[in-house]
Amino acid sequence: MAMKSYVGALLLLLSFSSSINAQVFNVATYGAKGDGSSDISQALLSAWKEACASTTPAKVLIPGGTFALTEVALDGPCKAPVEFELQGTLKAPADPSLFKTDGWVVFQRIDGLTMSGGGTFDGQGKTAWGQNDCAKNTNCRTLPTNLRFNFVTNALIHDVTTLDSKYFQVNVLGAKNMTFQNFHVNAPADSINTDGIHIGRSDGVNILDSDIKTGDDCVSLGDGSRQITVKGVTCGPGHGISVGSLGKYENEEPVEGVFVTNCTIIGADNGVRIKTWPASKPGTASDMHFEDIQMDNVLNPVILDQGYCPFNQCKAGVPSLIKISKVSFKKIRGTSASQVAVKVLCSQSVPCQEVEIADIDLVYNGPEGPATSECANVKPVLSGKLNPAACAKPHIPTKVKISDVSFRDIRGTSATPLAEKLGCGRGVPCQKLELADINLRYNGRNGAATSQCANVKPTITGKSSLPLCVGLRS
Ligand SMILES: *[C@@H]1O[C@H](CO)[C@@H](O)[C@H](O)[C@H]1NC(C)=O
Ligand SMILES: *[C@@H]1O[C@H](CO)[C@@H](O)[C@H](O)[C@H]1NC(C)=O
Repeated sequence: MAMKSYVGALLLLLSFSSSINAQVFNVATYGAKGDGSSDISQALLSAWKEACASTTPAKVLIPGGTFALTEVALDGPCKAPVEFELQGTLKAPADPSLFKTDGWVVFQRIDGLTMSGGGTFDGQGKTAWGQNDCAKNTNCRTLPTNLRFNFVTNALIHDVTTLDSKYFQVNVLGAKNMTFQNFHVNAPADSINTDGIHIGRSDGVNILDSDIKTGDDCVSLGDGSRQITVKGVTCGPGHGISVGSLGKYENEEPVEGVFVTNCTIIGADNGVRIKTWPASKPGTASDMHFEDIQMDNVLNPVILDQGYCPFNQCKAGVPSLIKISKVSFKKIRGTSASQVAVKVLCSQSVPCQEVEIADIDLVYNGPEGPATSECANVKPVLSGKLNPAACAKPHIPTKVKISDVSFRDIRGTSATPLAEKLGCGRGVPCQKLELADINLRYNGRNGAATSQCANVKPTITGKSSLPLCVGLRS
């Protein structure tokens, strides 16, 4: 008898302290069919509504199978913590015109959310990437993000995959205490604007032991990112782990506290990057630390760029007013796929303060000679072994104005992944530049051929085998 009540008390304790005994709301019991074609949005919303109303921990379960799902918003606040367990695959409509909003699966205003299950959110983005004209059209239609977390607190997102989103894979806004662990992001190198995890206006977000393969930034940290830890992340293909771009909009909040450690970047366009727009509104970004990072054939392994201006969408030549301070780059090693392995280009108006560079070992094996580095408007504190020597070359902006240039019908193979690069001058953007029918392949282990453009808005016509001018876009 005494034993029995002891066991009872123990079980009761367990049911309060974890979700092991959570009440399960299986979408199948609400009519969801895993046949790959019947839309389960109504079943999912009904299961969510009941789970969210439960006064004890609850779980929404999507079992194995492939389930078609149109866009849904899973709203809180909920009465108790809720787990979302995805065992199977959720499939978005392939046609982007079927979406009314900019999110496919949206979680909002939930305190105590867990996501688990080993399943996949398949955004079916292939058709959408072909329709993405944001490179040429500043008023382009915003395509849906696979997973949006709006004002979610005390959350753990683990052991799930987001695949082929039409736009950003994950967008986190207004989060507090949120962790991604063993989280997987997957999309090809040439998918456009598929940032892995974008975070803005959030405090205390961790991305741990995760792998991100995508067509844009693996992690991008927008304004108001505070106390963000990225640890044990493998990135590539992709555009690296980025802070910014900052300074494009009014009323941006400071970035404060970014800790990127023990990460591996493979065949990406950038490694670790901080980018701000020229001619920006005033702002600050401080306390950002990048340490113990392995680079494997990365185009720009370390890059701080305060003149970030892809597609000439800004007043180039007018310095950024984002004040950057307390930055460190330490223990960064491996291989660079371009000669300038370290670039620290700060603003002329507000030079960077308290920048530390220590223990860098980056090797470049190209025809131009060994790796080098460039600095502007910064006096970094140096220590340890530095290869290349820090700030070996001053960055001298060109004053030569280039215009009326066309590259047409250019084909064949490229010996580096960067098959198309237009690097125009900061104060003197290129004018009247045309790209047409560029058919270049790259057959190395870094995946598909890629491209970069800066301070230029070329006219792009014809049919090309690679997406042109993707590299420096955010
Ligand atoms: C942060 O969230 C996790 C996951 O829900 C939770 O276990 C932990 O207690 C939270 N931490 C704080 C300080 O509230
Ligand atoms: C670094 O990250 C890798 C995963 O990429 C992990 O296996 C390893 O244990 C981590 N090391 C440390 C010291 O955290």
